[in-house]
Amino acid sequence: SVCRNEGNKMVRYAQTAAAPAPAPRIKKFQIYRWDPDTPGDKPRMQTYEVDLNVCGPMVLDALIKIKNEMDPTLTFRRSCREGICGSCAMNINGGNTLACLNKIDTNTSKPTKIYPLPHMYVVKDLVPDMSNFYAQYKSIEPYLKKKDESLEGKDQYYQSVEDRQKLDGLYECILCACCSTSCPSYWWNGDKYLGPAVLMQAYRWMIDSRDEFTEERLSKLQDPFSLYRCHTIMNCTKTCPKGLNPGKAIAEIKKMMATYKEKKTAAA
Ligand SMILES: *[C@@H]1O[C@H](CO)[C@@H](O)[C@H](O)[C@H]1NC(C)=O
Ligand SMILES: *[C@@H]1O[C@H](CO)[C@@H](O)[C@H](O)[C@H]1NC(C)=O
Ligand code: SF4
Ligand code: SF4
Ligand code: FES
Repeated sequence: SVCRNEGNKMVRYAQTAAAPAPAPRIKKFQIYRWDPDTPGDKPRMQTYEVDLNVCGPMVLDALIKIKNEMDPTLTFRRSCREGICGSCAMNINGGNTLACLNKIDTNTSKPTKIYPLPHMYVVKDLVPDMSNFYAQYKSIEPYLKKKDESLEGKDQYYQSVEDRQKLDGLYECILCACCSTSCPSYWWNGDKYLGPAVLMQAYRWMIDSRDEFTEERLSKLQDPFSLYRCHTIMNCTKTCPKGLNPGKAIAEIKKMMATYKEKKTAAA
């Protein structure tokens, strides 16, 4: 028999004869493997079979199960397993998404195909090199900037409820890079075009009522690449696993830029 604590009373249950084990539901996972540190290793797909009856519901559950029980060499990033850290971004069945928020397709007659984020340098297996992405994020100075810093540490910078609301839909970005790596312009010009994730954060600071460097922030994006390689293809917004709209944020920057340029011309 088993005991369960229900409310504050222990209840004793008779254990019935073990139910017959359900038929296994074997799902194939075809996963990109490549270790550039192993001389001669070539990228290949490796197939793993997972019984969905004994696996959690998300693609990340399957990856962790494969790594723990079948192949400890399989390499991927993850941390929070709840869509907050942004580490587990990868390309699953053709779309960029977070493995921890992506339900396994339970149709066992088709395999689930998993690749690293597209058009990124690969460190190993599903781990992309994020160095350029993070350097681009750093370049937009993603923090509050004031002209007079004498108040720093002495006072709080207040913001009205309305001004705070303008940041909704922007501050939630977890910098997973799903959007940027789904953008053809970023694929071909990722060294010079900032891409949707970073541009949306640039916009987030431009419109923060407390920030005093809006014009300087705009001024830095005037070249033909940083902002203007966006051709409004909208892959970015379609793929965002947090339901955000970086394509719209970029369109808003372009509007602000037009006003800024008019103002500059008028002043000249
Ligand atoms: C499962 O996938 C196969 C192959 O794509 C398809 O033919 C079949 O209709 C799917 N079954 C269900 C229940 O969706
Ligand atoms: C993005 O768009 C291109 C061209 O429109 C398409 O071929 C591609 O599959 C899309 N990529 C992703 C990851 O959504
Ligand atoms: S809207 Fe711009 S940023 Fe988004 S996918 Fe298209 S080109 Fe890239
Ligand atoms: S906008 Fe969405 S897809 Fe792009 S980095 Fe942020 S959370 Fe990820
Ligand atoms: S593990 Fe953190 S977002 Fe998926």
